[in-house]
Amino acid sequence: MGGLATLAGYYGLRPDLNLRAQTQPGAADVVERSRVPSDQYDAVAKLCFNENPFGPSPAVLEAMTQAFKYANRYGYPDGGIVQAIAAHHGVSTDNILLGAGSTEILEVAAAAFLPAHKKVLGVEPTFSTVYEYATGIDASAVRLPLGPDFRQDIPALVKAARDNRTQLAFVYLCNPNNPTGAVVHKEEVKQLLEGIPEGIPVLIDEAYHHFVEDPDYATSFPYVLEGRPVIIARTFSKIAALAGLRLGYAVAPAALIERMRRHLGTMHINVLARYAGVAALKDTAAQTATRTTILGLRKKTTAELTGLGYKVIPSETNFFMVDIRRPVGPVIQDFRRRQILVGRPFPPMLQHLRVSIGTPDEMQSFLTAFKQIV
Ligand SMILES: Cc1ncc(COP(=O)(O)O)c(C=O)c1O
Repeated sequence: MGGLATLAGYYGLRPDLNLRAQTQPGAADVVERSRVPSDQYDAVAKLCFNENPFGPSPAVLEAMTQAFKYANRYGYPDGGIVQAIAAHHGVSTDNILLGAGSTEILEVAAAAFLPAHKKVLGVEPTFSTVYEYATGIDASAVRLPLGPDFRQDIPALVKAARDNRTQLAFVYLCNPNNPTGAVVHKEEVKQLLEGIPEGIPVLIDEAYHHFVEDPDYATSFPYVLEGRPVIIARTFSKIAALAGLRLGYAVAPAALIERMRRHLGTMHINVLARYAGVAALKDTAAQTATRTTILGLRKKTTAELTGLGYKVIPSETNFFMVDIRRPVGPVIQDFRRRQILVGRPFPPMLQHLRVSIGTPDEMQSFLTAFKQIV
């Protein structure tokens, strides 16, 4: 009970939960406040941060093990991570910028393209790093509601971009979107890029790219190759299961990469992450297997919820949102009492619970708890 009571004292059980949610805590903030004491961490089902529960592949673990011998060095060989990413996407190394996770990429993009008193445009809810950055520097965010089907409303974004043209610094598009799991179709991305005022950078966050099945979705890399002002953010945290190592990157025209690089610290990516990244890019078989397992678990879990009469937003990611038809705050707390961490509230979708895909056992525990709680 002691352990559970301690857990209960964390974010999920705070009496001011809804108030907190209204003020939109940032991702790092949420991670900090949700931290579970280390002696309880392994016992808790972690379905809250869209992590990959299966961990890095054996080849990636082996690469990291080999790289340990450089842990005492500064000038270590770095495994060629930038070259490997450039080759993976068929671009030059000038088009690549490494970040300590894609969070750092989003932050340096905001630092590079968003001066104080200007505006970033996007939807709400979405991954909020760039909005938090805007708040921190006295810039502002124009946040449009999602469409009725929880998809990003591209015509509305185009209109808002035009209406705000004098103040607009850049557009943020999370595709697929977190927390809904919904994709923006390739035709819609085109419509957005062609509709907004010329020269406005568009930051396209493809953190969940590897999980998408929808044939109408496509990566936006071709726009970078065309030299458009498009910055793609990718991460090794999801499909490659390296969230704790912190590795992500941007792909963009070289001039934009240079503007972003000025805002980046040096020596921020450690040697293990570099070698792990190279090995992960090569290990496509492991990524396919992980994807198949995760998508299978998502489909099984969401089918059960649908069978119970709950609506699930169609997801193209390693998480989903279910409409529980009542405020999620207390329900999140009830899950937490059962040692299951689910996603935080995402205003204004305060009756939708976001659930990340965990191991088969964790998903079973989730479903059992769901039936008891909801
Ligand atoms: C849409 C999106 N972008 C970026 C990130 C940041 O991931 P990382 O900093 O681990 O690469 C996340 C993490 O959950 C995310 O959901």
